[in-house]
This record gives sequence, C-alpha cells and structure tokens, in this order.
Amino acid sequence: MTKPAVTMKMLNSGVALVTLDLPDSKYNLLSERVLRDLIVCLDQAASDKAVKGMVIHSGKPDNFVFGANIEEIQAVQNQTAKAAYDASNVGKEIFDKIEKMPFRVVVAINGICLGGGTEMSLACHYRIASNHPKTAIGLPEVKLGFIPGWGGTVRLPRLIGLPSAVLPPLPFLPKGIGWGGLLTGATADPAKAWRIGLVDETVEESALLERAEQIALTGKVKRYQKPLKVRAVENFLTNTAAGRALVFKAALTGVMKETRGKYPAPVEALKVAVKAVGNKADRKGAYEAESRAFGRQAVSAVSKNLVNIFFAQTESKKARNNAAPSVKVKKIGVIGAGVMGAGIAQAAAYAGYDVVLKDIKQEALDAGMATVKGLFDGLAAKKKLSTTEAASRYAAVHGTLKYEDMADCDMVIEAVVEVMKVKKIVLADLEKVIAKPFIYATNTSSLSITEMASEARNPELVVGVHFFNPVHKMPLVEIIFGGTTSDGAAAAAQEFALKLGKTTVFCMDRPGFIVNAILTPYLLEAVRLLEQGVAAEEIEKTMQSFGMPMGPLTLLDEVGLDVAGHVARVLHAAFGERLDPPTLLKKVEEAKLVGKKGGAGIYAYAEGKKSGVNPTVAGWITAQPIRKQRGEIQDRLALAMVNEAARVLESGIVADPRTLDLAMIFGTGFPPFQGGPLRYADSVGIKVIHQKLEMLSKVAGENYAPCQLIKDMAARGQAFYQD
Ligand code: NAI
Repeated sequence: MTKPAVTMKMLNSGVALVTLDLPDSKYNLLSERVLRDLIVCLDQAASDKAVKGMVIHSGKPDNFVFGANIEEIQAVQNQTAKAAYDASNVGKEIFDKIEKMPFRVVVAINGICLGGGTEMSLACHYRIASNHPKTAIGLPEVKLGFIPGWGGTVRLPRLIGLPSAVLPPLPFLPKGIGWGGLLTGATADPAKAWRIGLVDETVEESALLERAEQIALTGKVKRYQKPLKVRAVENFLTNTAAGRALVFKAALTGVMKETRGKYPAPVEALKVAVKAVGNKADRKGAYEAESRAFGRQAVSAVSKNLVNIFFAQTESKKARNNAAPSVKVKKIGVIGAGVMGAGIAQAAAYAGYDVVLKDIKQEALDAGMATVKGLFDGLAAKKKLSTTEAASRYAAVHGTLKYEDMADCDMVIEAVVEVMKVKKIVLADLEKVIAKPFIYATNTSSLSITEMASEARNPELVVGVHFFNPVHKMPLVEIIFGGTTSDGAAAAAQEFALKLGKTTVFCMDRPGFIVNAILTPYLLEAVRLLEQGVAAEEIEKTMQSFGMPMGPLTLLDEVGLDVAGHVARVLHAAFGERLDPPTLLKKVEEAKLVGKKGGAGIYAYAEGKKSGVNPTVAGWITAQPIRKQRGEIQDRLALAMVNEAARVLESGIVADPRTLDLAMIFGTGFPPFQGGPLRYADSVGIKVIHQKLEMLSKVAGENYAPCQLIKDMAARGQAFYQD
C-alpha cells in the first residue's frame, strides 16, 4: 500500500490533527492524490462525534503547500473550458466540506503557502501563521494566466475586504488597507497578512500547533484591530455599489498599466471579486462566475504559454546529465572591473560569496568598486537590505590589482576586453597563482570557448558564463559548453548563477550563443526599416504592442551601438551576408554615437531622457517617409527572430524549443504571453510562417529566406511543440 499523503491523529483534547505530508517530496502539493486523502480524513472527522475541533498543518519543515499540481492543471488545460470549469467545481466542493465542519477548523501555516494551499486556508474558520522566515501567503495563479478557481477569488475579498484583495497600498487609501495579491500574485509575509486580516494571529514557530489546538477549542484569537476609520473606509469600498465602482476603476487602471491589456486573468479575477462582495448572500452566483472565468482562462493560449514557461524554468534548474559540480565554489574571482565585471562582482557578493575583483588599472578598479557600492547603497535605500547588511556585503568584495590575491579562488569569471589573446593570457596568469583546479568562466559575448580553453591546464574546467547587461536587472545567464567543457564544470557554473537568482540555459559554442544570435537580426531589421523611411515611432509602437518591453531602436540605444555593432560584425563574419549591418548602423557607429550611455545614439537625449530621433541620424535617412501597415512591420521584425531562432535550433546548440524560448523571454523580454519566438511561430502556424518568409524574402531581402528546418516542418505540417 502507498503511504497516505494526509493523515489524521486525535489529540487528547479531542482536536483532530490533520497532517499534509506528500511522501517522497520536499514540498506539499494539493495534487489529486492529496485531495483524495484529505477527503477521507474530512469525512471521517465529520462523522465522528468525539471530534471537537480540527487543526490542519504541514509535515514539511519549511512549506505548508506550494499549490495545486501544475502538471494536473496542464492536463486539464489541454482539454476544454468545460473540463477546467468542472475541475474548479470539484475543488470547491472539497473546500466547502471544510467550511461546513460541525466544529472549528484552524489552519496552521508554517513556510510557503501558495495557490490552492491559500484557497484551502481561506475555507478554514481560523488561520494562524508562524514567524518562520519562509512563511509567505499568496495566490500566484494570475502569473500562470488563470485565476484561483477553488473558491479563493470569492473568499479572499469577502474575508479581507475588496480593496486589500485587489489594490496595492495607494495614497488615497488609509494606511493598513492594500495588498492586491489576487491581481499581482504577490505574497504577504506574516506581519502583512495579519494586518490585512488574511491571518487571525501570528505565532512563534515552536508554539504553532499548541496555539492552533487552543483556538480550535476556544475560538479565541488575537486579531489585528483595525482602527475605526480604516474599517469605515473598507466597509464603504466593499459593501456599497459606489465604493466598489471606485475600487474597480482604480484596480483596472493599475492592471492595464502593468499588463498593457495582454494578460486577461487579473481583469477576470477582479470582476469575480467585485461580484463576490456585491451580493454576499449569493454564494452560488459568485462560485459560478469564478468557475466560468477559471475555465475560460485555464484553456487560453496565454495561460498555456505561461505554464510552458513555468515548466521550462523548473527544468532549467537541472544540471546536464544530472552532473554534480566538479569544483566546490566558495570564493569567486572576477577579472575586469568594467561594466560587466563590477555588476557580476556585486551580484555574487549579494548572493553571499566572498569576491576578489581585479583590474589592471587603478582608475578602472576604483570605478568598478564605486559601482558595486552604488548598487548596495541602492538596495539599502530601497530597504531590500539593512544598512549594516549592505555594508557587510560590500566589504565582501575585495578590490585588487594583484593576481596573488586570487590564489584561493574556486571560480574566476573573466570580464576583460573582448580580445581572445588577452583572455588567454589572463587564464595563463591565473594558472600561475592558483594551484588547485578552478573553474575559468568567461563572460565573452562572441569569442569561442573551445579556442579559449585550448591551452588551458584543465580545458574541461573552462566554461562560458554569459551574463547580460545590466547584470543586477537581467535575469538570464547562458552557460556555454566549449568543445572540452565537462558537465561538472557547467554544473558548478550553473549552481553559481542560480545562487545569484538567475535563470540559466545551457547551450553549445556558436557565435552569438542563443540570445544575441536571435536578437541581432531583429535589431538590424529595425534599423533597416528606419533607413527605408518608416517612422521610428511606428517601429517602436508596433513591437511594444506585440508585447516587447521596449521598441527595438530604444533597445539598441540601451545596449549601446558599439556593443551591438560589434556583435553584428562577429555574426556577419560567421554567418555571411544575411547579417550584414545596414549602412545607417555603420554610420552611427563610425560617428561614435554609442547610445544612451554616451548621451546620443539613434535618439537624442536630454538629461538622460529620450527626446526624439537624433537629428544627425535623421539627416542620414535619405529615403522618403513611407507608411507601412503595422502587420507588415511586425512580420518583418518578429519573423526575423523566428527564422533565426529556427536556425539556432537547427544548429543543435540548444536542447529543445522550450529552452530556446525561455532564453529569449528572460534574455530579451520577449513577451511571456506569446510564449517565446518558437511558440509564437506555432501559434501562427509553421505553414503560414513559411509563406510569409518566402514572400518577405522577395520584397525585404534574401535574409528572410526560410531556413531548412522551417521548410521541412512546413512541408510535413509539423510544429515546434507537441501539445
Ligand atoms: P569594459 O570595457 O567595461 O570592462 C573591461 C575591463 O577590463 C576594464 O576595466 C579594463 O581595464 C579591464 N581589463 C582589461 N584587460 C584586463 C586584464 N588583462 N586584467 C584585468 N582587467 C583587465 O567591458 P565590458 O562591457 O564589461 O565587457 C567585458 C566582457 O563582457 C567582454 O568580454 C564583453 O564581450 C562581455 N559582455 C559585455 C556585455 C555588455 O553589454 N557590455 C554583455 C555581455 C558580455
């Protein structure tokens, strides 16, 4: 017999202690199996006259429940809206059992409590949370494109009031109102949860169960007493039509600003929440609205795309061939204190590593150390770190000009100038001072890892670790296997990047790796359109409405035209004519208009703010202004990425479409709701993509000629993804 995931034990007091503890797992999930076991316990307790109360808790040391099993949700979303609607109703029935128990049910939350776990807690009569550092309560469903469907969208606003459920703290709300987790997916820590009424009490971890038992017997809790004024405002905003209309408008404005209308789930959740408090007697109506909205959203393309990314991200944390890191990394060396080196040193120190940062020039080192300090000061100013923590993390970075100071480093990340010879010398110099095996991680954006490793003492320990600029903001790191890189070295590099809070993807050594290879043709095409007379504003707006966080020309200025130009030349040399940069880009580069950092690029800047196309650049555009359909502009730009993405996949440097899409989403901000360039291609249809590329290759240049993989897939009627 398999071990049950939920067990029940009678305490001497007559309280039934229900323990959630999914066997062979570090986490609790409310999978079908767990819910089945829970029902057994609930039914048994309900029919047992001796039971005087119930406490539900987790058997895991640091998590209560992570939520539903997303694999089961994915199975439902590949069926129909009706199937999702039914699944939503089944969950509601189970949690209604809890609510209808003839005795008090107290949930004792220790550690993470998310999604379905929170929905279950909302159905309990009392909620208490421990002060465990990991305790956090939230409903992250909207991040996966659906809404809480097991009664949570209805119960939450009824419990904590409409404004706290759907609005963040805002100037017009009294202090103490506002969270908004239903629409943002944000979690609340125990203190916050108590103040907004999401939990009735917070207690020391060691006293959690004892306290829960007492509450189950007495019903007495130490709720946060909201001041009268707060209660009055909350009441008005929840229980009057005028108040609800105000909240709805404010919440909708906030959501639209955040999502630009591309993510429907928060809006749906908002509508259900407003309905749920509009007529509290009509529970059936509110439930029905929730189940329907859940059904619609769960099967939407947006949700499927977001769930796909969720799995891609989970998968990306695994090492290749499950290898263990071949070097235990404690101390980090960073060589080159420039833009990237300083950023990497700071991120590593923030993650808790001791760091030695080396440059060859004192001024460069000073500037790098000042950057590191500035970033820590910023974190302290934003209260993400205390001033003492910020100071001690900064002190963990030791700036130096001497190699000797790196003698005990386990991993050295090289971020010096992009010159092969220099990078090889740096490696040889390091080998003179570090006697033990160490990982040589290069942040190169275009040089061959294989070549760099060719004269190394331990070529298997040379690996590419490609961060993006700015390091503290950009969430992706590409981990690159050179011809000799071992799985263990890549695993060590990956573990390091994960500790920095980054998302990692593995790829093989090929110019541009994944992200720059795919992004470059897109950026070049944007310049080409500009050169051909299309208004910059049209180009930018088209791609923003496609979902990109900023337009391609703005992105070029952010990246730096010198950096972009360099990458383009490398790719041009490697892949030929189709990557020849347009004349306009060459002119901009020659004129040293490097972009935002230099105060002028494609755009002119006044005090760091964009102020229209740079007149110098405008003067170089000789073509007559032309108007193009947005659809055509979008195809030229998006399909430049799709075609190149297919080429990258075809080259075999990346394991699967999902990894490639993940890289583009985290490396460039490719819109998550579109799922990544390959998933986007699937949604358009590969046959259509093929036709469009053929057509574009005739009017917009040979570079659009569909690659072999797209030709083959179109002929066979295939898609990149199987679902
Ligand atoms: P940078 O020019 O800002 O910094 C390079 C630093 O290395 C300078 O401070 C220089 O004094 C120092 N340096 C040069 N030779 C050295 C040596 N032998 N020993 C110690 N220090 C030395 O350059 P950046 O932009 O930080 O780029 C560094 C590396 O990162 C390059 O390989 C580049 O391709 C790569 N990269 C750059 C990105 C960017 O957007 N800037 C993005 C991703 C990778």
